[in-house]
Amino acid sequence: MDNSEHLHVSWGQRYALVALIWTGLIGGSLLWSLSEERKIVLEMATVTAHANIQKDIGFRKWVNSHGGVYVSPTAHTPPNPYLNVPERDVVTTTGKALTLMNPAYVLREMQTDFPDDYGTKSRITSLNPLNPGNAPDAWEVKALKSFEQGNKEFSEIQEIDGQPYLRMMEPFVVDQGCLKCHAHQGYKIGDIRGGIGSSVPLKLIFSHRDEHSWTMLSSYGAIWLIGLAALGISYRRDLRMAAARRHAREKLLQQLDELLRFQKLTVGRELRMKELADENAELHNRIAAGNILGNIPGNTDRARP
Ligand code: HEC
Repeated sequence: MDNSEHLHVSWGQRYALVALIWTGLIGGSLLWSLSEERKIVLEMATVTAHANIQKDIGFRKWVNSHGGVYVSPTAHTPPNPYLNVPERDVVTTTGKALTLMNPAYVLREMQTDFPDDYGTKSRITSLNPLNPGNAPDAWEVKALKSFEQGNKEFSEIQEIDGQPYLRMMEPFVVDQGCLKCHAHQGYKIGDIRGGIGSSVPLKLIFSHRDEHSWTMLSSYGAIWLIGLAALGISYRRDLRMAAARRHAREKLLQQLDELLRFQKLTVGRELRMKELADENAELHNRIAAGNILGNIPGNTDRARP
């Protein structure tokens, strides 16, 4: 009976182990899925930031390909005080005043005046800005310095005004065309002139991700619970079967016990009967030999009544 108790404990342990492995499997794959989801979300934001930067670079190249564009100056778009080239301000033959917008100026105005609907922020900056308004913030300084070490891209999740953003920046390298206006700052071809960056807001993407994560959590949780319930049911069934087996064995042992006792009784009785029969035969012999008085030497114990 001790044996079967022991068996129960080890069963319980076996079931606990299976439950533990099940929990580990579900938990592990949940964590893996969640981290994959995180990665995908970041990849999405990275692709968006890339696309923004490429679009800005393309637009900037277009302006550059025309050597800048002439526009009518307004209070909002005055002649660029940082642009020192001949013919910055011209007058048409009909008397209309025009001012030249350099690529950075056009881009800056486009980026600040026409941000996209999603709150993406784009900017050009430099460690050595002509326009103090283009001075870098702490994160941009870090990115620009990494470009000078040869880095081709810099991105990080950063908070801007308390909201999460994926910030990305790519370097602006000096080529022949840039020297026309930037040579006086001491730049030569191949130098890092600055960077062009884009910040993609993550709030909306994160809230979608969180929603999806909750769905995932609850479906994994449901699968986990179903597994545990199945294990529990199976455990209880095993326990019941074990109890029935133990009961049957106890009964069997009891019957065996009784059988043995009965056998012992029967054997004892048979022995006793054989003894009596022997004594009887001996008595008969003695009577027949006339020795009933028991004076035969060596047989004194049996002779006395
Ligand atoms: C037509 C003149 C001109 C040309 C050509 C030009 N820039 Fe600029 N760039 C400027 C001026 C003027 C500014 C001043 C800031 C502004 O207008 O906002 C500027 C600003 C910048 C800035 C922002 C930081 C700052 O200094 O304020 C970067 C980065 C930059 N230029 C890179 C380049 C690169 C790289 C090239 C060549 C591919 C180039 N520029 C060609 C005139 C020029």
